[in-house]
Amino acid sequence: MTASERTVRIAPSILSADFARLADEVARVEAGGADLLHLDVMDGHFVPNLTIGPAIVAALKRVTTLPLEVHLMISDPDRYLDAFVKAGASTVIVHAEVLPHLHRTLTEIRRLGAQAGVALNPSTPVGAIGDVLDQLDHVLIMSVNPGFGGQQFIPHTLPKLSAVRALLESAGSAAPIEVDGGVDLSNVAALVNAGVSILVAGSAVFGTPDPAAAVRALRAAAGRAK
Ligand code: DX5
Ligand code: ZN
Repeated sequence: MTASERTVRIAPSILSADFARLADEVARVEAGGADLLHLDVMDGHFVPNLTIGPAIVAALKRVTTLPLEVHLMISDPDRYLDAFVKAGASTVIVHAEVLPHLHRTLTEIRRLGAQAGVALNPSTPVGAIGDVLDQLDHVLIMSVNPGFGGQQFIPHTLPKLSAVRALLESAGSAAPIEVDGGVDLSNVAALVNAGVSILVAGSAVFGTPDPAAAVRALRAAAGRAK
């Protein structure tokens, strides 16, 4: 499948939004045509930062019709899967690095009624998902070390994305590949060419004066991929 045949989705990350005005911020990116919202959950343990929990996910669910994907950067995701699905998550993304029983966790996310996603840190080999390809609906490749918005894109991500794409294709998996961290207008075309179909963007959207225009600009840049 070429990049132009693939539908690329834009997922603004609210991590860089104004947390005192979340509903307004969400309305802005909806107006810009965002496809889904990326919600970063951090526990101060797996990553050195703290953010939101299920109560905020539930509050956002009440003010938007966009699908909510919840990126769990927490040490014990199994404990909270049910709470996040009940709060309205359509996709729950867990980190392979903290899950010795990844197969069980992904199976449980699906059983709860959500799409099951796996995230891999920059230092985690692609092979970490090799034995759960039938259990996953979504792969998230971290292009920064997780924990903070506004970090620089790690270039090694590009060959890694190609390897993930080859692995999924070899197994006949249609799971979309998402990239998270340092995504901006300068790298979107290369990311789409490498096989990405969901682009997470925090500071490139909410760090600009016009988040709606920023979403449109990212989509236009994705459309310029080969
Ligand atoms: C980082 C988070 C990202 C973050 C990306 O750990 O997982 O979703 O919001 O922010 P930017 O796009 O600014 O790199
Ligand atoms: Zn994220």
